[in-house]
Order: sequence, then C-alpha cells, then structure tokens
Amino acid sequence: MKRILLPLFVTVLCVSCAGDEGIPVYRQPERSVDERVEDLLRRMTFEEKVLQLNQYIVGLNTNVNNIGKQIEEVPGGIGSVIYFSDNVTLRNELQRKAVEQTRLGIPVLFGFDVIHGFRTIYPIPLAQGCSWNPALVGELCAVAAREARLSGTDWTFSPMIDVSRDARWGRVAECYGEDPYCNAVMGVASVRGYQGDDLYLTDRVAACAKHYVGYGMSQGGRDYTATDISMQLMWDTYLPPYKACVEAGVETVMSAFNDINGVPATANSYFLTEILKQRWGHRGFVVSDWNAVEQLVAQGHARDRKEAAWRAFTAGVEMDMKDDCYRSFFPELLAEGKISEKAVDDAVARILRLKFRLGLFERPYTDSLPETERILTPEARQAAERLAEESMVLLKNNGILPLSGVRDIAVIGPMARERYHLLGSWRCHGRAEDAQSLYEGLQQEFGGSASLHYAAGCDFDGADRSGFSLARRVALQSDVVLLCLGERAEWSGENASRSTLALPAIQQELAEELARCGKPLIVVLSNGRPLDLSRLEPLADAMLEIWQPGVSGGSPMAGILSGRVNPSGRLCMTFPRSTGQVPIFYNSRPSARPDQGHYQDIDESPLYEFGHGLSYSHFVYGELESEAEEITSDKLFTVKISVTNVSDVDGYETVHWFVSDPCCSITRPVKELKHFEKRLVRAGETETFAFTIVPARDLAYVDAAGNPLLEAGEFRIGVKDRSLCVHLK
Ligand code: BGC
Repeated sequence: MKRILLPLFVTVLCVSCAGDEGIPVYRQPERSVDERVEDLLRRMTFEEKVLQLNQYIVGLNTNVNNIGKQIEEVPGGIGSVIYFSDNVTLRNELQRKAVEQTRLGIPVLFGFDVIHGFRTIYPIPLAQGCSWNPALVGELCAVAAREARLSGTDWTFSPMIDVSRDARWGRVAECYGEDPYCNAVMGVASVRGYQGDDLYLTDRVAACAKHYVGYGMSQGGRDYTATDISMQLMWDTYLPPYKACVEAGVETVMSAFNDINGVPATANSYFLTEILKQRWGHRGFVVSDWNAVEQLVAQGHARDRKEAAWRAFTAGVEMDMKDDCYRSFFPELLAEGKISEKAVDDAVARILRLKFRLGLFERPYTDSLPETERILTPEARQAAERLAEESMVLLKNNGILPLSGVRDIAVIGPMARERYHLLGSWRCHGRAEDAQSLYEGLQQEFGGSASLHYAAGCDFDGADRSGFSLARRVALQSDVVLLCLGERAEWSGENASRSTLALPAIQQELAEELARCGKPLIVVLSNGRPLDLSRLEPLADAMLEIWQPGVSGGSPMAGILSGRVNPSGRLCMTFPRSTGQVPIFYNSRPSARPDQGHYQDIDESPLYEFGHGLSYSHFVYGELESEAEEITSDKLFTVKISVTNVSDVDGYETVHWFVSDPCCSITRPVKELKHFEKRLVRAGETETFAFTIVPARDLAYVDAAGNPLLEAGEFRIGVKDRSLCVHLK
C-alpha cells in the first residue's frame, strides 16, 4: 500500500505547488533548457541547490539484499552518483527516490568511468592514438555510449587528454600520447562519439575532458605529485587539447589532482574560471576528481575541509566528487558571506542544464533490456576488433613476418593464454571471460594449417624459472617461437607508476633462453606504456606491440602474424632506449649544442620514434610540393606529397605533417605535428596526400598568456625526412 500511495501523494503535492501555473515550466519539454533551468532554480531551497553540487558513490556492492541499504544512504536530492554497477534495477530504485520522493523530483545524474568501452572493452586510449584513425575512435566511443546509456550510465569521465611524456607514469595508458595535436584530435573524436549531435537521444552520454590541467607532467612519473609547468608550456602543450574539446562542445570538465606552480588545479581560478569559462566560454560544469577538494588540505592549500570547499568552489569547481565537503560546509560558508547564493545558482544551473539536455526529466528511468540487445553485440565486437587491428604497431620485422609455410608454432609466455590482462586498466564492466586470448586468436587463424605448442615459461614477474625447460623443449620442436610478454593490467593506469620501463628480469631471461634455441623469435607485447626494449630487441626477429587490446585482441594479432591484416599502427609516444632517457619526446625545444650534451653510454636517438610503425607494404614518398613559397598571413596554401605503394600488398599509410619555425621570438619545438591523414594505398597505386595550411592556425603559436603570435619569416613544412621552406611576408 505504502509504495503505491506515496507517488500519488507526491504528484498531488506537485500539482498543487504549481498552483495557477498548471504544469511548472521546468516540466515542459517544449520550453527551452534555459527557461526550464531558470524556473526550477526559482523553486529550489538553498539546501536543495547544494545537494545538486555533490556526487556520491553507489553500487560497489551489487548484492540485491543490500540494494535497499544503499538507496537509504544516498539523499534523494543528490546531484549525481558515480555508479559502479550495471544493475538497472538498483539505478531505477535510486532514481525513483529522487524523482518521486523529493519535492521537486530532480533526477540524479549517473556517471562512471567508461574509458575504453563499457562492457565491450576496446584498446586503451594510448593504443587508440596509434591507430591515427579518429573516425574509428569516435565510432567506438559511440558504441560505449550506447552500452553505457542502455545500462543506466548517463555520463562518462572520458576522454583523458593529458599530454604525457613520462612513460613511468601509469596513466599514459589513458591518454593519446605525447603530442598535443594528437590528444586534441582524438579527444574531439571521443567527445563527438559519446555525445553525438543530440544528447537527448537514448544512446548518448555526456563526456568529460580530464584532468584539467597539467596532470601529465607529474614529477618523475609519480602519480599525484605537484607539477611545475611554465605558462609557456601550459599554453603550448597542455591547454590545447582542452580548448579543442571545449570548442567541440564537451559537456563537462574534471579538475586535476596536481598542484600547478603552487596552486592545485582544483583550486586554480586562473585555469578553471578565467580560461575555461571566461575566455573559452564553457557553459558546462567542472567536477572535481575523487576527493580532490578535501585533498587541498594534504596539498597545503587549505587549513581544513571547509576552507577546501570554499577554495575549490570559488575557483570554479561546480560539483564535488565523493568527499562531501560542499554539502557539509556550504550553509556555513553562505552565512559567513564567503560564498554567494548567486554563485551557487550559477553552479546549479550548469548541472541542471545537462540533466535537461540528457532528457532525464522526461526519461529518468532506464528500460531493462536483455543483455543481447544491450552489450557485446556482434557489431560492437567487430568495431573493437577493427580498432585493435589498426592500433597494433609492428616495431621490428627482419622479414619473418608475415609467417608463411610454418607448421609448428611455439606459443610461449605469460601473456599467451591471458584474457584479463588484455583488458588493461579502467576496464569498466569488462570481464575476462568476454575476451579472446592471444592463443585463441592463433587457433582461429592457424587452425588446420599449423599446430600450436604452448608453454607459459614463467609468470609476469618473480624468480620462478621452473617453466623454462618445457618452454625450451616446445621451442625446439617448432618452426617459429611466438613469445607473448608484457604487463599485468594493474601495472598501468592510476596510481601505477614504475621506476623502470623494462619488463621484469624473468621475462627478459625467458626471451634469452628461447633465443638460444636458434629458432626465429617473434615477440608480442601487451602493455599500457612504452617499454624499454633495448635488451629484448636484439633477440627478436620481429616485435609486435599490441597494447592492451580489449576483448578482441587475439584475432587482430594473429591476423597480423599471418598477413591477413597489414599492420598500420604508428606510435603516438616515443619508445626510449633506456628509462634514463625519459622524458624523451619528438617535439622538444632545440638544444644550444645539438651535437653535444648527449648521454655518453647510449645513442641519443630513441629506440622507436614518434610515428614509427612498419607495414607489409612498401611506401615510396615523392617530393613535397607547395602551392606557394611566398605566403601571407591571410591566405591559405596547400602542400602535397605523393605516396606510392610499390609492393603487391594493399596497405594503410598515415602521413604526419610537421611544421617548424626555426627562429622566432619565443623558441618553438624542433617540429610540431599539425595535421595527419591515414589512407589506403592500394598495391602499385599512388595517392596524393595534401595539407591545406591556415597560417593563423598552423604557423602561429601562443605566448605565455595565450595570445596568438604569427611572426614573419621562414617556416619548414615536413613529412618524414622531406621538408620544404615557405616564407611568410
Ligand atoms: C581518477 C579519475 C576518475 C575518478 C572517478 C579518480 O581517481 O583520477 O580519472 O574519473 O577517479 O572514478
């Protein structure tokens, strides 16, 4: 009786609240979002407003017996929850509490980390960057959005567009590598993929650009540390991907954990308010990272949680993730005149706008669909497989690949039969049982034509060599050895920094043991960061970097080995020769003595540079041609290059276009990526790749205050080892 009567009572109450107005404006979908927000705000008490600014967590425990308890613990008027479950019933029950048991019935916004898939886990972002295929990345984000929304998640904390140049930092796995432009393009593709053209549709989620800003600069690759970033570097490198995502309409932004030059990102009004909101005009809201408001105390920027709440809010953080500081202290802060109701209104308006845009007022509940219609559909798996194919990078090949005429393949190594670790970190609701192991991919690819002989050899780490002798025996009875090495999923991601980029000694020793067998050795690597491969590389006839490919990794990997798939991934992050070379990235500023100052004990070059990646096709580049040599700031001009596939295999080639400004008043990096394009070049055919240069966009740079500068003089436009000069009048 109680359950039925209560909603009735609430409805009667609401209608009577509306009085003469009939249906309140905020309940009328035909009204504009701004009108609805304004109307709703007028009706809200201060306490109701403050609740909207908080985010709690729900769903860690999905035991049905505890559902009631979890719901009891969350106030009905809460703004948002991080929803750790994919249980639609729990979600709807909590939503019912908000919609039917609170005075105004404001729906809860359900957010979660849908980072590289919801249940159909696809390659990690670092791998996605190596695909150089933003359209495909966007397609996968749309797949993730659909799975998430149909399972009750309205908002994802993705993409992460923190330019990262220190592979010791575990979170390099979550971004698109070392280049600002690549992060910007992939970030924008993700935002569009998640949000689509109309958030109101039932298969879209709101995106969140994170972690704003400079988090990728964590000292020594240690997570959560303070960052010291010159304002020039900030404007050159860390801000551009965020600006691009804001321009693309990203609904929300997450503030970062790091201290920036003395003011933590979560209390930094210069970046949060002056730049993001005032200069770039972001109308969405900023959510703090997990406990980041309260952590201002640990960072030495606030005396206590109350001051932390005040600092974060006045700097421009609208929603407080998890630590409850806003809810606990806003009434006092208001009474003391430290925060104003007007500022609270502005913050609440930003959150409500998103709820209206998502259609949550009209459709607060999630339909309970059978799994087969919701997740892991054949189309979703196929898309994940295509992205895995395009993101794998063939690092080395002395001609052994693609394999031909092999009858016996030794499949060795701790990654060979793994499923779980192929999913990587932030695997959302991904499950090991959904994933295809490398071994299974090989069975599917070579079944019938070759026999597989398996031995684990060793674990990912430790000192147990007892599996070496079986591994040796298996290798000796085979034509070729496929050694599957790499990192456990937990070795990258958040709070997963490592002091060395080399794989643990036991994996190296196994490789050495197998190399002594005298059989061709192919090393397959699955990991979440660039590795130090200098001791492994000389042992290998071929090396394939497959990253953490998600649910469909086995088949793309096996397809590359067999030649069914022509590898087309190119690195978006440099592989050093040794950990001591880190940070190493292609776009550093010129040295005063380019020929000196190098490490004495290793070659100065990286082991594998940015953009490296082999193909089974052989591409021959023509000469660069420019429409003009003398250029003016107001005129576009096009630069072209032909690429001929002189092999008999069709292949995808990515052309990276770099610009250098050899001399200007604020020195520029030796070269900067400004454009890229990936295209199929059929065997024996030539494709012409072009880059139309907009001087104000591609030749200009910003100063330390973000003001654009375009200086007359010489510019170099480069592709691979080709370059030409243009002169700006
Ligand atoms: C991470 C964020 C993540 C948040 C919510 C934090 O620890 O830094 O990237 O979105 O947790 O799970």
